[in-house]
Order: sequence, then C-alpha cells, then structure tokens
Amino acid sequence: MSACRYNADMTATLSPEQIAALCRPSAQPVRIRIVEETGSTNADLLAGLPMLAGPTLLLAKHQTAGRGRAGRTWLSAQGKSLTFSLAWKFGVPVHALVGLPLAVGVALAEALAMFNIDVKLKWPNDLLYNGRKLAGILIESAGAGSVPHDVSWAVIGIGINMSLDQSVSEHIGRPVASIPWMAELDQNTLMAGLLSGLADALVQFEHEGLAAFTGRWNSLDAYAGQVVTIIDNGQVVHEGIGAGVDGIGRFLIDTPGGRVAVMAGDVSLRPREA
Ligand code: BTN
Repeated sequence: MSACRYNADMTATLSPEQIAALCRPSAQPVRIRIVEETGSTNADLLAGLPMLAGPTLLLAKHQTAGRGRAGRTWLSAQGKSLTFSLAWKFGVPVHALVGLPLAVGVALAEALAMFNIDVKLKWPNDLLYNGRKLAGILIESAGAGSVPHDVSWAVIGIGINMSLDQSVSEHIGRPVASIPWMAELDQNTLMAGLLSGLADALVQFEHEGLAAFTGRWNSLDAYAGQVVTIIDNGQVVHEGIGAGVDGIGRFLIDTPGGRVAVMAGDVSLRPREA
C-alpha cells in the first residue's frame, strides 16, 4: 500500500490574472506581480519606484531577507505565510501619511473578517488572532527626490503568519498565530479580498485622512481597558489602562498621573506581565 501525500501548498495556484479577476472594481487599478522567491518585496518595490506607472502589488511565494519593523528580520515559509507589498501613489505629501499604518490595519482586519478570521489590532500595526501575532505591517515611504512635494509613494509591506511552525515563536520569543485552515483557503480569493480592502482603504485615506479610521481602529483595539506598558529601549516608560488612539494616531494610556499620548516610533506596546 502506498502512502499518498497531500500537497497543501496553496500558493502553488497563485495567479495575477485570477487575483485581478476576483478583485472588486477599484478606482485605482493595481498591477499584480508574483515571484517565486526574492529577498524582500518591500526592498524590490522601493528600488523600482521611479519605474512604476501606478499602484503595484508584488507577492513573493518565498522571501529570503524579509524586513520587519525596527530593523528586525521577518521570517516566513512558503505555503505557510503570505508575504506581499503594495506600492501606492498618494496625491498628498509624505507628512500626511502619518496614521497610514492604522488605516492599513483596519483594512486588513475588515477584509479578514470576511473570511471569518476575527482579529484584533495592537498599536501601532500588528494584527492579533487569539492574542498571537497573525500579521505585521511595514510601511516605507518616499516623498523627496524626483516626485513633486505634494505627491508621495508608500510601499506597504504585509506579512501574514498563516500556519508557521511553533519553532518560529520560540525563535523570535513571541507567540505567533497559526490558522492552518487559512493556508488551505483558495489563495487567489484570499489575496483578492485583501487587495480590494486595501485599495478601498487607501483611496479613502487619501480623501478623508485618518479620521475615517480611528473609530474603526478603536473598536478593534486588542488592549482597550487593559493594563499595558510602553517600553522604550528596554525600559518601561508608561504603565496604565489602554484607551485607544486619538485623531493623529497616538496611543492613549490612562496612567496614575493622567492621560498620556504616545507617538509610534521605536517604542513597543505590551500587555502588563502577570
Ligand atoms: C513587522 O515587523 O511586524 C512588519 C513585518 C512586515 C513583513 C512584510 S513581508 C512582505 C514585506 N516585505 C518585507 O521585507 N517585509 C514586509
């Protein structure tokens, strides 16, 4: 009797044409490219920005040098992760993109909810599933140089941990989500849902700014009403009750000394350890 091995790598079926056909019509058509392997989709799109005619999605089935926030490495595995970047041109200057990570988090959370994947948001830009990191967002922007000062490009990199082995959690020292059935969904349908949600959100962000997203972000806040700490360079700088984000995307904490607003930077938000 021979054992039959099921090939669960649903990324094998990914196709730009299929994704485009499954996307909702968008005000901004997006060019879609899929590569078997690259170092980092963010790095590739940033390097190619001057050549891009319009919004472009680059998806890599495997990344060998994935970049995370704060100079960290982003680990992924073919068939068990989704790694892609979307280069988007905004008709606003780069300083108007403050808060964009929050809008992207909302867009992804709402798109995932359509697949019955209910996530919460961890400020500034992580998606949590059952308290574990399901996805991270790395936005790199370009405003200076050859583009006019009232125009800016953002490369929005997204990594989703669909069903990584728990050894990855051990390696990075933080709990990573695992939703094995997500990796078995039709990946073209999943990508089309995510891309449609992102495209709609980016158009709305350009026209209405962060104001269109703060209420939605706060309703998805993983730590609303919970005791959290803000850590800067390994030191706890604030501890208090999480109170959501304000109109410019700062995280609010009610501390014994009053309400504090924290800007995104190299600080990290953590639930207080028991
Ligand atoms: C984080 O640190 O939470 C952000 C991780 C972002 C990873 C994605 S994977 C696709 C894109 N390409 C990269 O090199 N990084 C982003």
